[in-house]
Amino acid sequence: MCQSSIHSELVIHLFCFLFFCFCLTKLRGSVLYCRNPVSSCKINYCEPNNSKCGLILLGNSGAGKSFIANILLGEDRFQHAYRPTAVTRKTDSAELTIGDTTYAIFDIPGLIEAKQEQIDLNKTEIEKAFQQRPLSIILFVFRSCGGRILDEDLIAFRAINEAYQFNLTSLIFVLNNLDPKRDSEYEGQTTALLQEILELKQIKLCFLDHIDVRDNEARENYRNELALFILYCTPNTHTKRHQIKLHADNMKQLKQKMKQMQLDFQEQIALRQQEIKELQIEYNTYKKSIETEINNLKQKLAQYEKQKSNCIIL
Ligand SMILES: *[C@@H]1O[C@H](CO)[C@@H](O)[C@H](O)[C@H]1NC(C)=O
Ligand SMILES: *[C@@H]1O[C@H](CO)[C@@H](O)[C@H](O)[C@H]1NC(C)=O
Ligand SMILES: *[C@@H]1O[C@H](CO)[C@@H](O)[C@H](O)[C@H]1NC(C)=O
Repeated sequence: MCQSSIHSELVIHLFCFLFFCFCLTKLRGSVLYCRNPVSSCKINYCEPNNSKCGLILLGNSGAGKSFIANILLGEDRFQHAYRPTAVTRKTDSAELTIGDTTYAIFDIPGLIEAKQEQIDLNKTEIEKAFQQRPLSIILFVFRSCGGRILDEDLIAFRAINEAYQFNLTSLIFVLNNLDPKRDSEYEGQTTALLQEILELKQIKLCFLDHIDVRDNEARENYRNELALFILYCTPNTHTKRHQIKLHADNMKQLKQKMKQMQLDFQEQIALRQQEIKELQIEYNTYKKSIETEINNLKQKLAQYEKQKSNCIIL
């Protein structure tokens, strides 16, 4: 089977990245000379003149998009939960630098709403972000409840993906706020479930544990883990192929459909043991490699960011 592993690919990339960082420290700021040897490692530089590409965070409200954006930025730039008093919540963007790439990071309101006019407003907000930064990396954040993915989130992703047909090399799925003591095959199972329901193969899924935001080290590890995923993504130009089709009237029916698909998956789980096990092993291998290297990476990223000011980037 061609389940060739996104995570083992990430492991290779991780080593390439560390090599790249090593090379940077050796060459003291001459990024220029370092690029060629590592370009085969698929680490991405958005554009030759370093113009910004987008990092577009999508997901329904309450998924933790602002939380993620703030951690990446290292400051409380975006507002967390939207205030009930706020009439509209407009799309907002900020600058985020990871390695030598600067992204325009967008925190976009969710899509699913009870009223059609609200859904339409939110569609417009999503479209605006893609108009501003067609060249982008997409982070789609799912909410889970007791390990189960929320049906509304599956609906939202399918609707947006139908309109934009995201290139998978630019797409990261994030599961945020997970119980650190979750089932030992949670990652494998969730990956298999999402691949089935979203009808996609070899998706990149980033599983993030619940953290105490006051814990600096936890925040930093969280940031680094996400940063790695972002670095290994290839930004692509995303253009709208169709309108985002989503109607409040159909919501009940769609939810029922998603619920049924999740139930069907659960029923077939015994038949999928092998697939799930393989996906889990892949994930564990990746995770282990990250844990051993994350301290290294932290230092190297910091060093890199310090050196960056001395670099001439062509
Ligand atoms: C540099 O970036 C700007 C956008 O900021 C773009 O308009 C311009 O065409 C780019 N130049 C090159 C040489 O790519
Ligand atoms: C959709 O947009 C409305 C208006 O901009 C906003 O109040 C609401 O929070 C958004 N929905 C979600 C799920 O974020
Ligand atoms: C997706 O992006 C990659 C990398 O930019 C590219 O090689 C590939 O052709 C794209 N796939 C599609 C279907 O556009």
